[in-house]
Amino acid sequence: MESEVAGWLSVVFRFVHVLASIMWIGNSILFTWMELNLIPVREGQERSDKGLLGSLDMLHGGGVFHLQKRIMDPGAIPATLHWFKWQSYTTWISGMLLLMSVFYIHGGAPLLDSTKSSLTGMGAIGLSVGGILVWWLLYDSIWRSPMKKEAPLAAFLCFVLLMGLAVMYNQCFNGRAVYLQVGVMVGSSMTANVFFHIIKNQRRFMAALVAGQPHDLELGKQAKMRSMHNHYMTFPVLFIMLSAHFPQLISADWLVPILGVIVVALMLVKYLMNVRSVFKGWLVMVFVVVLLACGMIKGLLVLPSTTSDVGLTEAQIGGKVFVSQGCAVCHQVGSAQLGPDLAKIFNSTVTLNNGATVLADEAYLRESIDRPQAKIVQGYGTTMPPVSLSSLQRDQLIAYLKTR
Ligand code: HEC
Repeated sequence: MESEVAGWLSVVFRFVHVLASIMWIGNSILFTWMELNLIPVREGQERSDKGLLGSLDMLHGGGVFHLQKRIMDPGAIPATLHWFKWQSYTTWISGMLLLMSVFYIHGGAPLLDSTKSSLTGMGAIGLSVGGILVWWLLYDSIWRSPMKKEAPLAAFLCFVLLMGLAVMYNQCFNGRAVYLQVGVMVGSSMTANVFFHIIKNQRRFMAALVAGQPHDLELGKQAKMRSMHNHYMTFPVLFIMLSAHFPQLISADWLVPILGVIVVALMLVKYLMNVRSVFKGWLVMVFVVVLLACGMIKGLLVLPSTTSDVGLTEAQIGGKVFVSQGCAVCHQVGSAQLGPDLAKIFNSTVTLNNGATVLADEAYLRESIDRPQAKIVQGYGTTMPPVSLSSLQRDQLIAYLKTR
């Protein structure tokens, strides 16, 4: 019953999370696009409207949106002024609830990889929560410090720190959890940017305006810097959040360098999209960046591992095969869970969809893997795909399933 409730809740949280993030990211992309395409009022140009910064016309919904960006006049604050914050807050709140209902509720165990360390589930939860706070404090301090004037240097430092944290998590977390943890840390700092900087600064200049003071553009500029950080993180975070569907990447030996390539490449793609009105070759460059990134990732996938399987038991190697062959995508507790939980499956009694029961002995496990459609577990569909495995891999998987 408990796990059923957790299952239903994770459906609700996941859907809300996806929906809210689409709305948030959509806004971030549209607002940045408007900002970049705004036709600015040139210095020295004759202008009758003193507060006008720029304007833009957009065709949509059968009419033209004539948009103006302007300095607000304390005497003429629009009666209806829209603020954008709830998409971000809803994304974060639902994301945290999802994190709890998928990983934390199971005592943190789904975060771990027993072949890497003997950390306990509670330790893993502590590391995960701690990382969210540490990353935010480091990132925020860097961009509060004078270093923010050297944006490329500050960005590079943040990248190195993030990769350092990923390397640390890779000492004890499984690949999927390493990627997600990085996504959660960055996603949380994006919402913290909205809460602690963007909305806070907007409140401050609005309060000043209401008090009759002029529009403080400096506060707006600070907010915009954070807003641009968020904008450049949208593509990488989206990819990371979907990474459980890319088992070949999250199970790779070099999963952290691969993550680094993905983050940099997607930020570059976003940058090229942003400069497309002033840089003709942007699309060709997008292809070059994507191809280069794919080439580098391919190289990292075939690069020999530093951690060999020597010293691991057959069952432990089977645990790795379970992830690399995509089994975990469906069978890992708390994932989208298209397949049954395989914990303690060996020698248990399984009820099939025709009501019959079978003993899950080795022969049954082998058959379930080789011919998934032969017997269907009650409550599940025929979604398990046939997987091509070497006979060694199959033996390793069986050894692993026996110890679960
Ligand atoms: C696309 C999702 C999916 C993937 C990928 C997948 N499975 Fe399954 N698996 C299922 C579903 C659904 C069932 C239940 C229906 C059935 O019995 O075929 C199942 C059933 C099983 C069973 C029997 C479970 C029981 O409770 O009796 C075993 C064992 C199993 N899978 C192992 C694996 C292994 C090993 C892999 C990787 C090589 C794998 N599965 C990949 C979806 C998946």
